[in-house]
Amino acid sequence: MNKKIEIKNLTVNYGNKDVIHNLYLDIFQNEVLAIIGPANSGKSSLLRSLNRMMDFHPTAKVSGDIKLDGESIYLDEDSTFLRRRIGMVSPLPVGLPMSIRENVLYAPKMAGCKDQGELDFIMEDCLKKAALWDEVKDRLDGLATKLSGGQQQRLTIARALSHHPEVLCLDEFSIAIDPVTTMKIEAVLHELKKNMTIVMVTNVINQAKRLGDRTAMMLHGSIIDLDSNDRLFNGHVKDTRTKEYIEGLFG
Ligand SMILES: Nc1ncnc2c1ncn2[C@@H]1O[C@H](COP(=O)(O)OP(=O)(O)OP(=O)(O)O)[C@@H](O)[C@H]1O
Ligand SMILES: [Mg+2]
Repeated sequence: MNKKIEIKNLTVNYGNKDVIHNLYLDIFQNEVLAIIGPANSGKSSLLRSLNRMMDFHPTAKVSGDIKLDGESIYLDEDSTFLRRRIGMVSPLPVGLPMSIRENVLYAPKMAGCKDQGELDFIMEDCLKKAALWDEVKDRLDGLATKLSGGQQQRLTIARALSHHPEVLCLDEFSIAIDPVTTMKIEAVLHELKKNMTIVMVTNVINQAKRLGDRTAMMLHGSIIDLDSNDRLFNGHVKDTRTKEYIEGLFG
């Protein structure tokens, strides 16, 4: 299997607080890697390191190396292009204070796309993939901030898809979404993985089970278990705390 991302000896701290310690992880092309683990175990910090969002945290310090397609993500000083290749959906929706249309087309326009036909296609395609099109197709010029929480979350997914990322990182994407919509988006992710690598942090064990090809269990800034879902959810764990967490005994 092709390695899409290779993380080597990653350490992250905020001020003098270590939150990820000497972490090694390979992520394969076209897999869905689920990351589970209790609060504060470093899941979001790991995800944010992948597209160098940590550059924007004034107190965060990241060391070690992360390779994308065999090349260090730190080679280029400017990380804008990296963030197009590795898209991020944050846990709480952050709709830009502009119309639904402008939200989805923000990144393609920034990248220089001016062709109206192409922009219309991208907008409809991304909103459909995010299971939002039917609900907003008659109000595309309305303010995105007036959408419900769950709709705004799906808009963030549409926005992340608009620049055709090679890797899509999702941090608890279904936290504000009802189960029916969640299932719709899960079906979409299943389709997307044919052309994309997906790294998904989730607090819902069953979501990791349903969607992941492999699942990693994080605790106190380390990956304590990592295996195919077939194995991990059928008792093949290296650390008994993984089994206890999966069974709801802690976390
Ligand atoms: N910007 C920050 N400044 C200082 N400390 C931070 C910052 N962001 C996270 N932390 C700390 O880093 C540790 C790991 O946080 P992180 O958000 O990565 O965990 P998590 O596994 O995603 O947790 P949750 O399940 O609650 O989202 C926590 O102790 C948290 O308080
Ligand atoms: Mg988190």
